[in-house]
Amino acid sequence: MSVAVGPDIRIDRVRGEPGDAGLAREVREGLTRELKELPPKLFYDARGSDLYDRITTLPDYYPARAEREILNRRAPEIVAECAAGELVELGSGTASKTRALLYAMAGAGTLRRYVPFDVDASVVEQCAAELVGLYPGLAVHGVVGDFQRDLGHIPEGRQRLFAFLGGTIGNLYPAERAAFLARVRRLMGPTDRLLIGTDLVKDRRVLEAAYNDPEGVTAEFNRNVLRVVNHGLGADFLPEAFEHVAFFDEASAWIEMRLRSKRAQTVRIEGAELEVTFEDGEELRTEISAKFTRESVESELAGAGLLLDDFHTDAGGLFGLASASLP
Ligand code: AVJ
Repeated sequence: MSVAVGPDIRIDRVRGEPGDAGLAREVREGLTRELKELPPKLFYDARGSDLYDRITTLPDYYPARAEREILNRRAPEIVAECAAGELVELGSGTASKTRALLYAMAGAGTLRRYVPFDVDASVVEQCAAELVGLYPGLAVHGVVGDFQRDLGHIPEGRQRLFAFLGGTIGNLYPAERAAFLARVRRLMGPTDRLLIGTDLVKDRRVLEAAYNDPEGVTAEFNRNVLRVVNHGLGADFLPEAFEHVAFFDEASAWIEMRLRSKRAQTVRIEGAELEVTFEDGEELRTEISAKFTRESVESELAGAGLLLDDFHTDAGGLFGLASASLP
């Protein structure tokens, strides 16, 4: 479904319509594994996007602040490198950090279009309305979809800056990252560029503190996946019957988030025709958030046929922003 919301806004909804058959299939597939699992994109309904925004303001959640520091400092040179006229942002969310890029493009006089792509329709609609107000003449072509499946809905263009910020690439398993990067590579033309935000490997105490805030915002965000499944598939998860778990798995170089069942319980997922039982203490994996090094980023890009042109970090060396193009 495509809706022209105003003269300069168009939003294509690829996913997220009620009764989405893909959701039932994915949930059934994940919850029937040995270690039960739900995909992290299911955190993001309007409430989940809002909880993530609150996470980005927490003292211990450094990735968002570090990436913002890099973008504020480097946006002008990044947009100048490809004379970017178009920003295609995958997993755009509320687009708070994107603004540094759009601002730099507007300043360079090249800004034409913004293409926000996100699973949560509410953030795509909201940021579209807000940004056309801020930049008169800006065209916004939003896509509500899953960046692992729906990249084909991105409009054609040139002089495009593809941005995948926040460290969201870390939500994908290594094989998924390889497939995703190869797909993005095929979308890119010789005048396009790719910016990827990557959280860096560091002391586990720093990493684990970022995912275990004392206020419990991350715990609420984690449990939100259960509310999304309740709402989307008529399930009867009791979010409060699960506790938040987050730890760094050093061998895999990723943070893993889980929900631990506080007791033995049975959950009915009407829309997936599924009943699942949890043992007391059984864990459900809800997210991996992989951590990188400059070398690992460079080699994953190379594996997809992309060349790392620049790797910017914040002053603290916590976060990396990779800039890549076709060789
Ligand atoms: C939005 C995927 C970048 O992995 O750090 C924040 C999500 N999870 N706290 C991340 C998240 C727990 C976040 N990303």
